[in-house]
Amino acid sequence: MSAQPKIVMQATGLVKRYGQVTALDGADFELRAGEILAVIGDNGAGKSSLIKCLSGATIPDEGEIQLDGHTIHFKSPIDARRSGIETVYQDLAVAPAMTIAENLFLGRELRRPGLAGMLGMIDKKKMLEESIARMNELKVGIRSMLQAVETLSGGQRQCVAVARAAAFAQHVVIMDEPTAALGVKEGNMVLELIRRVRDKGLPVVLISHNMPHVFEVADRIHIARLGKRAAVVNPKYISMSDTVAVMTGAKAVGDLPPEALAH
Ligand SMILES: Nc1ncnc2c1ncn2[C@@H]1O[C@H](COP(=O)(O)OP(=O)(O)OP(=O)(O)O)[C@@H](O)[C@H]1O
Ligand SMILES: [Mg+2]
Repeated sequence: MSAQPKIVMQATGLVKRYGQVTALDGADFELRAGEILAVIGDNGAGKSSLIKCLSGATIPDEGEIQLDGHTIHFKSPIDARRSGIETVYQDLAVAPAMTIAENLFLGRELRRPGLAGMLGMIDKKKMLEESIARMNELKVGIRSMLQAVETLSGGQRQCVAVARAAAFAQHVVIMDEPTAALGVKEGNMVLELIRRVRDKGLPVVLISHNMPHVFEVADRIHIARLGKRAAVVNPKYISMSDTVAVMTGAKAVGDLPPEALAH
């Protein structure tokens, strides 16, 4: 077998407690260059808690996170963004009343050059040009970037959120349920966009409950269970039913054939 792609992001022994509840109980995580890593698990398995630690939204009580082999201590999502990690949250992914261009640059508006910029004036023309370029790069077919996001379909909105993350991420894109509540066509649109992001060279972490979607796009599947990583499986060599059985605890990881496990 050929050498494994390098590890971009790694977490070891993450612990996160909320009062009496242990959301993460020594969770490990590993994201490799150029892959779509799906993270699956039952409700309460600790998926969102894990992703929040990786995206700076939560500070773990214990454990270590490394980016490109260097230990990092994110204090906020802004820290993670500065390190090139963009996260698409399931809810409130976009600001509906704003245009697509404004949404793409939300929180990092481009200033006009010179005094106007120093006075806080926004460079709308530059933002529009950049929006068109970045959406074209990802082949998102939206007619006008000046269209308000509330006039878009759910799938198009998700595409804007995913495209925003993809456009600005330098290192990693994390998505928490980006295809939840989408129709077949919109869901497929977002899946296609996720593939393009990977093919652009950015590794993607995809949290999803949608097994067909996971099996369609994932290179590896991280199974979260009871606050830990139960296994990482290879969707080429494991069935959907075995994957779900491991996820629910109906099947022991040790009972899987060796090729089902991803390394
Ligand atoms: N802010 C919080 N306060 C208290 N308990 C929390 C908090 N966030 C998560 N938990 C608890 O931690 C555990 C893991 O939650 P988490 O949201 O990580 O699960 P999940 O795998 O994302 O589940 P789902 O599939 O339902 O989104 C749950 O028992 C949950 O109740
Ligand atoms: Mg969750």
